[in-house]
Amino acid sequence: MKRIISLSLVLVLAFTFTACGTTATTEATTEEAVTEEAVVEEATEEVATEEVATEEAITVGVVQTNANESDWRTANTKSFNEAFAEAGFEIKMVFGEGDHAKQISQAQQLIQEEVDYLVVLGLQSAGWEDVAKAAQEAGIPFIMADRKLELSEDLYTAMVCSDFAAEGTKAVDWLKTQALDSYKIVVLGGDTGSSAQLGRSQAIEDGAAANGWDIVFNQNMKGWDETLAKQAVADLIAGGTEFNVIYAENDNMARGACDAMDAAGITYGKDGDVKVIAFDANKWALENVLAGKFNLDVECNPLHGPRIVKLINSLEAGEAVEQNAYVDEEMFDCDTITQEIVDARTY
Ligand code: AHR
Repeated sequence: MKRIISLSLVLVLAFTFTACGTTATTEATTEEAVTEEAVVEEATEEVATEEVATEEAITVGVVQTNANESDWRTANTKSFNEAFAEAGFEIKMVFGEGDHAKQISQAQQLIQEEVDYLVVLGLQSAGWEDVAKAAQEAGIPFIMADRKLELSEDLYTAMVCSDFAAEGTKAVDWLKTQALDSYKIVVLGGDTGSSAQLGRSQAIEDGAAANGWDIVFNQNMKGWDETLAKQAVADLIAGGTEFNVIYAENDNMARGACDAMDAAGITYGKDGDVKVIAFDANKWALENVLAGKFNLDVECNPLHGPRIVKLINSLEAGEAVEQNAYVDEEMFDCDTITQEIVDARTY
């Protein structure tokens, strides 16, 4: 800012003097005055352009979970990369690869590298106080995306997250409307301790307790892994465990469960014996809902890139921002979904 003022000041002064000098002769050459104004205007524009060009790009450190965690995560990472590139931000994205301690040290490293903003998508919701305090001391705004972390509001600037408890409640309310004779539920949970897993698991556990439903299996799959989910369901089938609901905390694990039931000749979905509930609502999964393979898919929207760009631009402009923003999300039922809805899906 300082640089712009001195240069323009010089130019304005030059113009003023010229104008003063020519006051006596203004009558003489209005044309001259016009030309000089054009010169000053052009010079000011040049300065502005130059100023923009020389201004350093905003650097954003993004502490992401795992690179190949799920199709949802792939869409999420792509959204950041594309939106930040379009905004002219420099992105420093790191992946925790299932290791919470690694994410913590990666975040500390980004703070030492003096990024302008720190965006965290936590593998675990707990244990981020020290990082948040270090960012605060360094004057780096701490932003949570996707997954809310256990931090008091004085320790972070803003969050743009999914409400995982609300997602789970949508699924429980839908399950209630199915009015099954009995409920024998298999819960395939996500990474233990992530706010996505905590919210969705708590909802089905509370729903089952409140409605007298049986949870016959409840285990978290490390890394939200599709193959682990398939194996878990295959083992249940081989072990003779009776179930009529799959509550899979993401699309990939729901697909794994379906593959295991296919292998065992168990019917599922719209016309089958087992209800299949999934979370995320990737396009390929909505095709499964349309085909009646998944009964319900609760959206978890990964497109956080543009949202964080908007947030950072507001902060850069000194505007007030909403500290706690939850993303609007829908759910898709095999009885009401349409081809148009599937075609409109961008991830
Ligand atoms: O945090 C969102 C969750 O993380 C998604 O539901 C899951 O697919 C992803 O890996």
